[in-house]
Amino acid sequence: MTFTTEAAARLGIRYPIIQGPFGGGLSTVELAAKVSDAGGLGSYGAHVTAPEDMAALTRRLSDATDAPFALNLWVSDHDPGGEHPNAAQFERYYPVFAPYYEELGLSAPILPERFHHRFEDQIEALLEARPPVFSFVFGIPGKKILEECRRLGIVTVGAATTLAEAEALDAAGVDLIVATGLEAGGHRVSFLAPAEESLTGTFSLVQVAAAHVKAPVIAAGGVVDGRGVRAALTLGAGAAQLGTAFLACAESGTSQAHRDLLFTESVRDTTLTRSYTGRLARGIRNRWIRDMEGQDLPPFPVQSWFFGAIKAAALKQGRDDLLSLYAGQSAPNLKHRSADVLMDELISDLPSARAA
Ligand SMILES: Cc1cc2nc3c(=O)[nH]c(=O)nc-3n(C[C@H](O)[C@H](O)[C@H](O)COP(=O)(O)O)c2cc1C
Repeated sequence: MTFTTEAAARLGIRYPIIQGPFGGGLSTVELAAKVSDAGGLGSYGAHVTAPEDMAALTRRLSDATDAPFALNLWVSDHDPGGEHPNAAQFERYYPVFAPYYEELGLSAPILPERFHHRFEDQIEALLEARPPVFSFVFGIPGKKILEECRRLGIVTVGAATTLAEAEALDAAGVDLIVATGLEAGGHRVSFLAPAEESLTGTFSLVQVAAAHVKAPVIAAGGVVDGRGVRAALTLGAGAAQLGTAFLACAESGTSQAHRDLLFTESVRDTTLTRSYTGRLARGIRNRWIRDMEGQDLPPFPVQSWFFGAIKAAALKQGRDDLLSLYAGQSAPNLKHRSADVLMDELISDLPSARAA
């Protein structure tokens, strides 16, 4: 059985189901390949991948599946003040983090040469590696990059948090547009207005984007099962992108502690926070989020860098009060811990009238 939509056809996949990319090292080749093999689109979040590793990563993905997959990057790699590590900034912000370094028995971190890889270098490496699909967030790549994708046959997928962003992606000629609502786990990937002013829900955003842009729309945010996929298609989306539901599966790259928490009552309480990276993201409220409220936090990616060692030590010490626990608002309905079983259910729940 296949299930055709224009979105699925453009992506070269059999079913309009996308496993959303996970940045920050939480994607795996295994998960992306399983989803692609099952007829959906597996994605790999590569925004923390070094440019020199992009070719090997793409090779690992194409060795693992014969079907299309997406590599995902963050177009904007820093917020104002977040590009160059400097001592003055360290002096200003370290006092916020020092009590946690002490509590976890860590010594103060040493400033790196850079906090984040440069998008310009990553995209150059990605174009050389030629993945079947390039998806991106936090902006629109320049005209030359989009033209080069077209020339190389790389399908482009951009993400919007508002109608204005969807229209800007459409005007730039991006092939498909993810309409990502505020329900979604992970970041609000806004790029035209501050994330706090771009809080559109998936239900509205999908409908208005589908009515106002030419490119097929992909619904993201709050979809965890077949009913959600069908709802997205009814609202005008050509495919649904699921993040949290795949993050909960054993094949994802997150920790067992995080995965287990996704199946507890604590997922009922998610919130938007800048405490993970300096950019607004949705996760389960815990002590870290509460403690960071009202603090003078550094910009992205400086906040991620200060928090990185804290998260790693907390995980080693079996503590979830100082972890980033990304989760979307529909997490209380999660059922599956296996990507195979999740994909089987999503596919069998597709509307049969349109199955070909
Ligand atoms: C832990 C985590 C990390 C994510 N990282 C990225 C990323 O790097 N790039 C991206 O395009 N989307 C990212 N997302 C968004 C997902 O791909 C997806 O669009 C979103 O999770 C859909 O909402 P849902 O969680 O309600 O299913 C991330 C989501 C989560 C939960």
